[in-house]
Amino acid sequence: MTTSTGTGRFISFEGIDGSGKSTQARRLAAHLSAQGIDVVLTREPGGSPGAELIRALLVEGEPDRWSAETELLLFTAARRDHLERTIRPALARGATVITDRFCDSTRVYQGTTRGDLAATVDQLHDLMIGTKPDLTLVIDLDPTEALARTTRRQDGEDRFEEFGLGFQNKLRDGFLALTQAEPTRVKRIDGTGTPDAIAARILAAFDLSGL
Ligand code: TYD
Repeated sequence: MTTSTGTGRFISFEGIDGSGKSTQARRLAAHLSAQGIDVVLTREPGGSPGAELIRALLVEGEPDRWSAETELLLFTAARRDHLERTIRPALARGATVITDRFCDSTRVYQGTTRGDLAATVDQLHDLMIGTKPDLTLVIDLDPTEALARTTRRQDGEDRFEEFGLGFQNKLRDGFLALTQAEPTRVKRIDGTGTPDAIAARILAAFDLSGL
């Protein structure tokens, strides 16, 4: 398995819903841009016009709208488009790509929490994506705290939040397991405290990574 596809750096942010990863992804992108670095900040599901269309199918509607298998295929289709249209071209020109979620979300959300799909998730990844970030930052936070932080979303994109606290706890464990399984690539970042404190931890981890 190769990691990055081009010469640029490929960084992903991961974590449970409400962990603050989107804020931190934006902050790291702003920090690097301010140094004159070519940065592409993107997100999943989405990140390209086609993948954004698939996103609406995934994040809106009833929790049982799709089977775990169908959902896995939709996420993978969206990711393939994101990779082809946004990520690979950016890495090829030497840009730093920062994505709010990537393949590890699928491993955790679809692979460990909804049926025993882990092997299928990995096979599909190898078949259709074949690329992992150079560095993955997991913003780790107790789900109770994450829930308390976020007021209820008004954008209708709450299909996953509706699975409840037990589900969020399983997700947290899944992300922590990844930091153990791939310690060089996947780093745990303590998600407690102020956004400034978390951003400082992220910069320290980024510097240590040698990227
Ligand atoms: P996201 O937009 O990151 O939501 P949030 O900002 O609330 O974290 O992602 C939408 C939902 O999609 C989120 O609950 C996680 C889920 N998801 C998966 O289940 N599998 C995946 O592969 C990805 C990328 C996201």
